[in-house]
Amino acid sequence: MESPGISFPGFFLSLWTGKAVFLKKIFKNMLPKKVETALNAQIEIEAESSQFYLAMASWAECNGLPGVAEFLYAHSDEERMHMLKLVKYVNERGGHAVIPALSQPPKTFKDLHFVFEKLLQHEILVSAEINKVVDVCLREKDYSTHNFMQWYVSEQIEEEALARTIMDKLRMIGNDKGGMYLFDRDIQTLTANTAGGPANKA
Ligand code: FEO
Repeated sequence: MESPGISFPGFFLSLWTGKAVFLKKIFKNMLPKKVETALNAQIEIEAESSQFYLAMASWAECNGLPGVAEFLYAHSDEERMHMLKLVKYVNERGGHAVIPALSQPPKTFKDLHFVFEKLLQHEILVSAEINKVVDVCLREKDYSTHNFMQWYVSEQIEEEALARTIMDKLRMIGNDKGGMYLFDRDIQTLTANTAGGPANKA
């Protein structure tokens, strides 16, 4: 005769399911909702940055600036990596990283000065947004995410410094065509004037 109630494997399955739900709840509690929202907003900003620099790279490639294009393609990839790092972090902490729709970036740019001025302005804006995420972490007492975000804080110092270094070079060159040729040839060798320039990145 069959024993009444739950079967032996069913008993273990319900135990496991209950445990999994319990663990998920604990895990979910580790990432406060406001932090998750702030991180998802940052995911969108990093994705938009990648898209923006990709548009700049394509414009440079179509305008006889292969060195600048290569630099910007790499920069676009780097921003995608920043986005991916956030996506994985949110999901690892039991949140849900939302992949955003992206707006169309500009197709054309006035000149190289304009490209890098925009890049610098954009990085300044990204730094401000990262500071906002850090602020949310502190208000929510999420010290793990606060610690995780320090990598982005350092990264922004480097990226802003690099953009400023490039702008300084471009100001010196002005509209000199020979100077622009050399700039396009040598841009890969430019590093930010900080202890942890791009060459020292993790
Ligand atoms: Fe990932 Fe330069 O912002």
